Amino acid sequence: MNAAVAISGKTKLYGVIGHPVTHTLSPQLHNTSFNALGLEAAYLPFPVHPDQLQDAIRGMVALGVCGFNITVPHKSTILPLLDEVSPLAQRIGAVNTVRIDDGKLIGTNTDASGFLRSLYPLGLELKGSTVGLLGAGGSARALLAGLSESGAARIFVCNRTPERAEDLVSSLQQFAPETKMAAVSLFELESQPLDLLVNTTTVGMDGVSAPADLERFREVRNVVDIIYCPPQTPLLTQAERLGLPNLNGLGMLLHQGTEAFAFWTGEVAPEAEMRATLESALNIG
Ligand code: ATR
Repeated sequence: MNAAVAISGKTKLYGVIGHPVTHTLSPQLHNTSFNALGLEAAYLPFPVHPDQLQDAIRGMVALGVCGFNITVPHKSTILPLLDEVSPLAQRIGAVNTVRIDDGKLIGTNTDASGFLRSLYPLGLELKGSTVGLLGAGGSARALLAGLSESGAARIFVCNRTPERAEDLVSSLQQFAPETKMAAVSLFELESQPLDLLVNTTTVGMDGVSAPADLERFREVRNVVDIIYCPPQTPLLTQAERLGLPNLNGLGMLLHQGTEAFAFWTGEVAPEAEMRATLESALNIG
């Protein structure tokens, strides 16, 4: 599936830094896309210890690396080491993609834009919509920033630890005065008519538990679970049973990659090939 990359003197190098990086699907995803478009480029995993982040980044610039992804635990600590950071990534406080232009490190966050792009199949008009977010971790933060930038009118955040939801809302509300954000209990969330309910918690990764019972909600029009493994969590099984349009997290995973690819190369990513690579790596499809 993952055809060998032909290396030459003109090969452009990309990669991902993280600690650990052994589980990342990004090398398969991006080497597939370079091959599909016939680009002379290769993508490698770089395990970088937190103590060596600055040295690693200097090394990337010195070696002429063209761009890289950033994963746990460097997504936030990398910010002060960059020359430019997109306003959305600044608000999220996390960068997952960097392009190196003439030695300048330019950071962005494609988790948020990738999530928004992944919603297209639902045909949902985000402008003026009401959204419920389950969870208040790093993913919820990216989604809250992205959804408010897309013009959602109301976003309710519900988390097991309510203080985290309150902190999240109070830190992002100032950047999106047109969106009404509120930290709410599950009981309060259930009473709101929602255009979209998104699970950003890890509940459901075990294939058994669900973060909420959809039957208790007054109205939910669409359901997204950003978990992609298993591809159908109990929450999505329930959405399916209730006839609600729903998506898992594969689209977000795919589109954080297609958006990173476009950010680096200026080309439209080969979406079908990238999706097939992910489905085969995850044994689905
Ligand atoms: P990520 O960066 O992927 O969002 P995270 O920051 O670790 O990951 O956040 C995980 C989210 O899942 C949090 O909202 C967490 O709730 P708490 O803030 O209360 O920890 C939520 N979560 C994890 N396990 C949970 C559980 N068993 N029940 C409910 N929520 C859970």
